[in-house]
Amino acid sequence: TGSRKFFVGGNFKCNGNKSSLQTLIESIIKSTLPASEIVDIVVSPPSIYLEYVNQLVGQRVQVAAQNCYSETKGAYTGEISAEMIVDIGLKWVILGHSERRNLFKESNQLIAKKTQHALSQGLSVIFCIGELLEQRETNKTEQVLDEQLGFLLNGVVSDWSKVVIAYEPVWAIGTGKTASPQQAQDAHAFIRKWLSEKVSKEVANATRILYGGSVTATNSAELSKQLDVDGFLVGGASLVASDFVTIINTAN
Ligand code: G3P
Repeated sequence: TGSRKFFVGGNFKCNGNKSSLQTLIESIIKSTLPASEIVDIVVSPPSIYLEYVNQLVGQRVQVAAQNCYSETKGAYTGEISAEMIVDIGLKWVILGHSERRNLFKESNQLIAKKTQHALSQGLSVIFCIGELLEQRETNKTEQVLDEQLGFLLNGVVSDWSKVVIAYEPVWAIGTGKTASPQQAQDAHAFIRKWLSEKVSKEVANATRILYGGSVTATNSAELSKQLDVDGFLVGGASLVASDFVTIINTAN
């Protein structure tokens, strides 16, 4: 992973309650974790529990929202804004997750607007991209990644140091079918080359590219050895403290 600081995110998705989140967070933070210079650790509970979890995590672990809207406030029933996330003291938001794209039909345009607005409010964004199974099988992976990433250009991203990219092949999410280390490396290398060509060499070198999709305590070590894999965005395994901690410790 070169000079880039490792990053492990736990995306809890729509799971947990006050009691289970308390147990989970307490066991994560009392575990032996690498130093903060070695790995960023960010957990992402459902929005209704953001403040609750933020009060439990202490100094070592940060908290991310799973989504936010592109506007400051107004008649957008059911949405939360970047300003609200900042207001409760958080620094991170996940945007463009495949479940937002595919289940909730968020377009590239909307995700770009959200990203631009979240960054303008000082949030850091975990920007998710990835191809569907059918797109991989028809050799369209790079085309899809290029298209999804293209929406970050033209002034959408003002400060690349506030962007972490998560490559999550949709066929690997929640399926138990992890990308092979080589498949992950190939996609990550493509993303880094894209950054180098479309943004700059410096940004390409500095930007963390995470892998997500059926990451487990058993497969994370091999994946983390890949040159361009700078960390993980973990779904299911982040709900099991011991597994999540094992994954975090692959940073060492
Ligand atoms: O954002 C992480 C995610 O989509 C991967 O989920 O359950 O396959 O680890 P999972």
